[in-house]
Amino acid sequence: MPKVTYITPAGDEVVVENAEGNLMTAAVENQVTGIDGDCGGVCSCATCHVHVDPAWTDKVGPATEAEQGMLEFEDGVEDNSRLGCQVKLTSELDGLVVRVVGR
Ligand code: FES
Repeated sequence: MPKVTYITPAGDEVVVENAEGNLMTAAVENQVTGIDGDCGGVCSCATCHVHVDPAWTDKVGPATEAEQGMLEFEDGVEDNSRLGCQVKLTSELDGLVVRVVGR
């Protein structure tokens, strides 16, 4: 399972080794500030909004149509925005860096 670095809204780095599940669940389990996962990961709250580091956007891929629908109502949306609950963590994402948008 991959190592993931989350950069919190305050600028702190939280490194999660052997992250499991998806970007939201791994963040909640490791108390990453700014990711709440209020809807439990069903793409209906956007409390897991992250910006994927530019070096990783191709590997992570773009937001799906469902995510784009949720992000439409959010502040701070950029081309590299994703909902963390929709990014499954695989070994291919080892070293991934994301910036937590928070609210
Ligand atoms: S946890 Fe609700 S949209 Fe991701």
